[in-house]
Amino acid sequence: MSGNNLELEANVFNSVVGFREAVTKKEEMESNGSNFKEQKGLVRRTINSLHPKRLRLRVKNIRIDTPSTKTLVMVSVDGKNLPPFQAGQYINLFVSLSGVSTARPYSISSSPTDLSSYELTIKRAEGGFVSPYLLDDVEMDQVFESTGPMGSFHHNPLFHGFDLVFIAGGSGIAPAMSMLKAMLASSEPFRYHIIYSNSYENDVIFIDELRDLAAAHDRFLLTEFLSRETSTEYKGYRGRLSLPVLQTLLPNAPSKMYYVCGPTPFNEHCAQLLSELGVKSGRILIESNGPPKMPERMPAWPKSVLPEDEVTIKVGNNSFQAKVGEPLLNSLERNGCFTENACRSGECSLCRVKLKSGEVFSPPEAKIRKSDKKFGWIHSCVAFPTTDIEIQL
Ligand code: FES
Repeated sequence: MSGNNLELEANVFNSVVGFREAVTKKEEMESNGSNFKEQKGLVRRTINSLHPKRLRLRVKNIRIDTPSTKTLVMVSVDGKNLPPFQAGQYINLFVSLSGVSTARPYSISSSPTDLSSYELTIKRAEGGFVSPYLLDDVEMDQVFESTGPMGSFHHNPLFHGFDLVFIAGGSGIAPAMSMLKAMLASSEPFRYHIIYSNSYENDVIFIDELRDLAAAHDRFLLTEFLSRETSTEYKGYRGRLSLPVLQTLLPNAPSKMYYVCGPTPFNEHCAQLLSELGVKSGRILIESNGPPKMPERMPAWPKSVLPEDEVTIKVGNNSFQAKVGEPLLNSLERNGCFTENACRSGECSLCRVKLKSGEVFSPPEAKIRKSDKKFGWIHSCVAFPTTDIEIQL
């Protein structure tokens, strides 16, 4: 390995949270004659403390960001720092509403350099079940359970390089904000461009802070788009993201790394534009934002069924009716059947159940492993039952 590569490797390892501390501890123990046998169980305890399955979080503050968005500042109930995370990751927040136990994943919008709290920026989903409760009814000091930080939507210094573009739609700015703060605190030679698209001018999350940071830092560039009405003072682009505008904004487009986060149609539109710019799919990371809202509009949807049709779901000795257009995980939760879950977007595999009979529609975002497919496993968070089905949890 050349000197340059060795130096790069050392930089990468040193940028991993806790790496230097672990090496120092190892050297200290070796110098005291330890052969590490007395540390039985330490590895497991250390991993559990860094990657806990469950956290208990208290609402320390509630900030109003826009008419449709609030940020909940969550701290650990024991007053200690929270586990480390990578900017871009999410936690899955568990709630119990009207007798239904469910959960929703929210990206952390605060910086990974400050582990005293996780900030969750939550936008009202029209017709949503959980977001109206979190925005309207949650009170200070309320306690929630969540997963630890999860997800692979984050910068990877080995493969992504340091010339990064984040294309955010609406509340997709939450992980972009966390990445921005992490990069501005880093000594690595990052260049970071946020292309931020919204509908309405009075509903743009973090806009003042973003403009201030863009004015203060040469290596951070902000480009704004508004698709609906705008005031005369507005200085950004109007309308949707388009190929001619991106061609101007992104010279040497294929050499950059892209992160895309927004509603599913927005993500698909961005992926299409980037592909037309010659960006390889390996240079684009897309954060899915829940199951598709209108699966019946997807090309592979079976034309003979309508989303409002009802089917029977059989689970062990229980059975219940469910709408075809409702993700299976949601109808399981409404009927008291719990299955572990986290991303609710088809990625993490935690919600998988076995399909014993019948058929479901699984959109392309359901990342089902080949071996799982072979044995009938499906991801219930993005599975839509198109016939009567029987499943095993
Ligand atoms: S909850 Fe992650 S794949 Fe369903």
